[in-house]
Amino acid sequence: MFIKSGLRGVDLIIGGGFKKGSLVIVAGNPGTGKTVFSAGWLYHGAADFDESGIYASFAESRETFYDNMKGFGYDFKKLEDEGKFQFLDLLTVRYEGVSDVFNWILDKVYSLKAKRLVIDSFSALAQAFEKPIDVRTFIHTILSKILRKTGCTTLLILEVPYGEEKIGYGIEEFLADAVLLLKKKEYEGVPLREISILKNRWSEIIQTDYVFTLKGGFQIFPPLSIKPMKRPIGRYEVIPHKRDFFSTGIRDLDKILRGSFRGGGYNLLEIEKDVAFPLERLISPIACNFLNQGHGVVILPPQGISSSTVEKAIVPFIDPEYRENLVITDYKGEGYGIVTLKGGSLEEDMKQLWRVISDLREKTGKPVFSVVGFDTIEYNYGEREALKILGEDVARIRNYEDLRLNIIRPTIHVADNLEALSDIHLRIEMIHGALFIRGMKPKTTLLGISFETSEEYSKIKLTPVI
Ligand SMILES: Nc1ncnc2c1ncn2[C@@H]1O[C@H](COP(=O)(O)OP(=O)(O)OP(=O)(O)O)[C@@H](O)[C@H]1O
Ligand SMILES: [Mg+2]
Repeated sequence: MFIKSGLRGVDLIIGGGFKKGSLVIVAGNPGTGKTVFSAGWLYHGAADFDESGIYASFAESRETFYDNMKGFGYDFKKLEDEGKFQFLDLLTVRYEGVSDVFNWILDKVYSLKAKRLVIDSFSALAQAFEKPIDVRTFIHTILSKILRKTGCTTLLILEVPYGEEKIGYGIEEFLADAVLLLKKKEYEGVPLREISILKNRWSEIIQTDYVFTLKGGFQIFPPLSIKPMKRPIGRYEVIPHKRDFFSTGIRDLDKILRGSFRGGGYNLLEIEKDVAFPLERLISPIACNFLNQGHGVVILPPQGISSSTVEKAIVPFIDPEYRENLVITDYKGEGYGIVTLKGGSLEEDMKQLWRVISDLREKTGKPVFSVVGFDTIEYNYGEREALKILGEDVARIRNYEDLRLNIIRPTIHVADNLEALSDIHLRIEMIHGALFIRGMKPKTTLLGISFETSEEYSKIKLTPVI
């Protein structure tokens, strides 16, 4: 039987939850999120599944713990008032020896009928006594008196000093049913948090490492393959453009761009090599936010997406009265609102594209948003030709105050030039199978991409790794 962690993404990666009555070790360097993880697990157990929990702490005082955890959305005061939670402050209590402390914890487990127990930390507990305790005996006592008798799942926190390779005393890991290691790293100048499953006795370890964040509480970014993306059902919320800047149709993206998505903007979206995800799902909300506010939208699909894929991802989400304002260009395409490029020369094709943009601008009286797959252009005509049209392309966007989003893969040669010319530069990449976007210009942290769909609305959410 498993007990659900209630922490987003966690159950997915450990085979459905923690096994009831198991002993789990959570290890990590200082500040890696051990307390947030364990507290979140207790909090959700009590709040969502009605499983009482006890937090036995050598690490922080009651006030610090309650205050800090509130910042992550865990209100323990409320749970305590409801009789579902108890904080045991082992810092201030007087005890004779390890068995004293242990009996005290045990009493509380029995009286609260606790189903979840956290000891923060086992390292501190082991050091708190004059005589070094026998770690093996102690853990055996936990196993027989707490886990086996009461079925109370227990989480032991292990503190790993900086620069230390070893996790604990070398005994706990063998006795534990699962061992999780939390890490904080730097990834190209931005913070990255990782959790590794070193051991799991109740389920197969399919993947060892995952990315997590402490934003709004502990949550793991699940690999795309684990959580299949549902097709969008509802429409996108229309987010009004402002006088000086435009909305991308994705609120979380607007927030990080801080008004830099402007008329005359030449922008870049770079897709890393290993990214396997339907890009049209990201283009669609942006395009729709322009279409549904009466703007013209022109799309030259990037490599890997056909014009009909783009069409299917956008047309169902636009107001019928604005459908005529969507133009998709293609080299062979037939279909709704598709303009076929001749493919004779790039200059000719671009002239055609620029004409379509001008026509739409005149028709709607508004700036036109265009998406251009520069990888498609370079693959068809080569780097030299692509560079030749770049100057005029930028000048046109700037002069007419239209908006552009160019899409590239890093292997193409004009990438450097496009980066230099762009006002906004975003990059999409996959880390441990999960999808992230980040701003290179303006610089942002890594943001996990998730798709939220309901009958009413489809929405893209971006969650920062902090
Ligand atoms: N309000 C907050 N919002 C987001 N992150 C925060 C907030 N307060 C602290 N942090 C971050 O949370 C992390 C601390 O998490 P936590 O206390 O769970 O770590 P820990 O592994 O238990 O550390 P220690 O070994 O010191 O006990 C720190 O990296 C800190 O930067
Ligand atoms: Mg801690």
